[in-house]
Amino acid sequence: MKPKILVARAIFPDVIARLSQYFEVESNQEDKVFSEDELAIRLQGKQGIFATLSERIGSKQIQSNPQLKAVCNMAVGYNNIDIEAATRAGIAVTNTPDVLNETTADFAWALLMSAARRVTESERWLREGKWEKWRYDSFLGMDLHGSTLGVLGMGRIGQAIARRSMGFNMRVIYHNRSRLSQNLEDNANHAQYVGKEELFKQADHVVLTVPYSSQLHHIVGRAELALMKKTATLVNIARGGIVDDQALIQALKERRIGAAGLDVFENEPAFYPEFLDLPNAVLTPHIASASERTRRAMADCAADNLIAILTGQTAPNPVNSVNPASTTGNP
Ligand code: GLV
Ligand code: GLV
Repeated sequence: MKPKILVARAIFPDVIARLSQYFEVESNQEDKVFSEDELAIRLQGKQGIFATLSERIGSKQIQSNPQLKAVCNMAVGYNNIDIEAATRAGIAVTNTPDVLNETTADFAWALLMSAARRVTESERWLREGKWEKWRYDSFLGMDLHGSTLGVLGMGRIGQAIARRSMGFNMRVIYHNRSRLSQNLEDNANHAQYVGKEELFKQADHVVLTVPYSSQLHHIVGRAELALMKKTATLVNIARGGIVDDQALIQALKERRIGAAGLDVFENEPAFYPEFLDLPNAVLTPHIASASERTRRAMADCAADNLIAILTGQTAPNPVNSVNPASTTGNP
């Protein structure tokens, strides 16, 4: 008998077809976002879940489903999953790293350039029919070329962002849990390691790529925003909760920083409505990895992990380590 799995959200139909060769699949192509209670119920009898960042997998879902063996997230981040609880229960958790690095780095630049050069703000103005004459001082923004880029969280995505700054002749500074090797620093446009405060003080443009964890909650708050240049841009492609969004709204409103490009929000898809009134904020709905090719690669990667775990092989992208014996046997 094929193991049962839940595909928790709508996904490319060919991925469902592939999973169906191995599993009895309960899919959710109508794409209803399950509540935590409903998810716990949907997981009954399932050995694996193809999840996205909208599914909270915590002790409720885990304890009520002792047969669960695999949680495969279609995302590089996995802060929707209680890793400790999963590990204790012998559940293997996987993510989709690497396949999205370059696409996500591209998008960080899209946000950075839109925010610094006021692309969406000026477009809205044009669409509103307000363009009557050219003016010397219309929509003056901040230059990218020759400026200093600060990257907070210099993992693989941060390095891909830094590499792109070479063409803009920028200086790169970064702060990270640990310093990169000389070789990696060189490849990241000769990025220079600095303390976190220095990063916020010196950068003309700050990009956040740190993964979310409770220790990094509001790592960018009032104090960090106060260190930034009045003209500086802040880009968040990391996670909601990394930035104290209310402090950011105040800083943008009072023009204590120049602009922000934001792809993620605290409590998304909800966000503070004050953002909508800020002309100097570029707002996108968590789409940094959303190219056709990359979203397909992420879906395939999550499926590969699910198939590997439930057929007793080594998962390509584990984020925890569980006793393999506990994941290969019959439930
Ligand atoms: C997207 O936010 C991801 O974690 O892949
Ligand atoms: C602007 O369009 C210019 O010609 O300088």
